[in-house]
Amino acid sequence: MSSPKCAFSVVAAKPDLNILPLYTEKQKESGDEGMKIFLDSANFSEIKEAVSWGVISGVTTNPTLMSREEASFEEMAGSICRLMGNRHVSVEALSTAAEEMVPEARRLAAMAPNIAVKIPMGVEGLKAVHELGSGEKVSCNVTLVFSVNQALLAALAGADYVSPFIGRVDDLGWDGVGLVREIVEVFDMYDLPTSVIAASIRHPRHASEVAAAGAHIATVPFAVLKQMAAHPLTDIGIERFLSDWSRFKGEKGR
Ligand code: E4P
Repeated sequence: MSSPKCAFSVVAAKPDLNILPLYTEKQKESGDEGMKIFLDSANFSEIKEAVSWGVISGVTTNPTLMSREEASFEEMAGSICRLMGNRHVSVEALSTAAEEMVPEARRLAAMAPNIAVKIPMGVEGLKAVHELGSGEKVSCNVTLVFSVNQALLAALAGADYVSPFIGRVDDLGWDGVGLVREIVEVFDMYDLPTSVIAASIRHPRHASEVAAAGAHIATVPFAVLKQMAAHPLTDIGIERFLSDWSRFKGEKGR
């Protein structure tokens, strides 16, 4: 199937959403296979701990997460970027008008080479993303995305990432995972290079469902990352192996 950049007049074969592979063709071609996991946190100890597990490829922050920490914004962003090395760190711009967002984003991006600037979705955000794509390009993560149309516009404006907030969509009684699946389908259909970050993940089931829905990245809070690693049957299994082994040792007198 040829993949037009995005033309509504072109009708492409619709993939069966229930059997979408974990890796999209686009990811396979670029050798970038598999969903990556980012940590959704501004807490240095949590990030350090998660990095030591060897499973996270980036960190996303937002003003709420930053406001829970003691250190200044610059200190937090600086130490997180240093810890993450060349891995992705998203930090959010706070301006609301495009003409202020652009210089703010440039200032944030200049702090470290691994920074992507989170730009809130909206007309001003789109203008800023478009502007930030020209000249010295700033990598943009369009945040607070709640519909396929918003994701599509963000991608067309030049965003490297879009972040649909699935937990907040579920809170409204809609289908957050379904939203991710549809965005991935549309991006894939038109070969749009923007990566989909499934955000606002509330529980481990969300993480596995967005992986099956083809999300390129899931950003998860530390509590969810810990839940992802755990299973009660694993704990019961370890306990049983240890007790069987110590009984065996006791019986054999060794
Ligand atoms: C994503 O980038 C956001 O930081 C985050 O996932 C928002 O999650 P919340 O809806 O739990 O606040």
